[in-house]
Amino acid sequence: MTTSDSIPQYALGSTDAEHERLIWQAERFAPLTERLFREAGIGPGQRVLDIGSGVGDVALLAARLVGSSGEVVGIERDARSIARAQARVTDAGLHNVSFVQCDLSQIPDSKSFDAAVGRFILMWLPDPVSVLRSVSRLVRPGGVLAFQEPYWAPLLSLLAPLPLWSAAASLIYKTFQLSGADPDLGPALYQAFQEAGLPGPAMRLEMPMGKGPGFAQWFYDILCTLRPQILKFNLPIGPLGDLDTLVERLQVEGRFSDSVVCFPPPVGAWARKHAD
Ligand SMILES: C[S@@+](CC[C@H](N)C(=O)[O-])C[C@H]1O[C@@H](n2cnc3c(N)ncnc32)[C@H](O)[C@@H]1O
Repeated sequence: MTTSDSIPQYALGSTDAEHERLIWQAERFAPLTERLFREAGIGPGQRVLDIGSGVGDVALLAARLVGSSGEVVGIERDARSIARAQARVTDAGLHNVSFVQCDLSQIPDSKSFDAAVGRFILMWLPDPVSVLRSVSRLVRPGGVLAFQEPYWAPLLSLLAPLPLWSAAASLIYKTFQLSGADPDLGPALYQAFQEAGLPGPAMRLEMPMGKGPGFAQWFYDILCTLRPQILKFNLPIGPLGDLDTLVERLQVEGRFSDSVVCFPPPVGAWARKHAD
């Protein structure tokens, strides 16, 4: 099912399990996102737009940086995700974070923002440049655009010597691609910013690595989320064996290898919009 002929179905969906996965993932990526936002100059008193806000983790992080004198507006088209995000904002006792339900191609005009941000969102869009361009119009001259998008190539290379990890990673990568997502958008952000009329951004790649149990858990969780898509595309999930024991088998393979494993590394890119 598609919402329109041109907009592919969002592959990760919006189940309760996916919401929990996003929150779990956000805890691991928060330090990377915070470093990027601080480097980009996001701070107290600013008004920040968060696109593709999901269940609100980036908006909550930005709210901490801008403080009570600032404001954060999240854009998200999925009503269930917004309900969860709004409940988390209420639980956190925040009054300066709100969400607008709409597609990113139809963000309503509003008072200008000091910054527009997003994490793991442009990779899902059929035309990330046009969204960057329209979002940048909502940012004041001299304001900031800061995004984090994945770069799977180094992950695939690092995991190549580990057959089970490599099979899991390749299956996820292929499913993303067939779902219309670009799992290697990260490094292409430089050109995307320029095509959107922005200066070439400052960029960094950060790759969390190690041997801890969290890495296997991330792969298992995303495979569970993607399972309906994997089946829809007739991709071979059988070679991974019983998913119920996948985390354990990944950990064993990692433990007895010289290599480390990793999360998909995000590329952070930020630029300041030309002053008029
Ligand atoms: C991978 S989640 C990322 C959520 C959040 N940025 C984070 O890092 O935790 C992407 C979110 O973007 C939303 N999304 C995808 N395409 C969208 C579109 N065209 N318009 C609005 N929201 C969209 C999805 O519903 C989903 O909640």
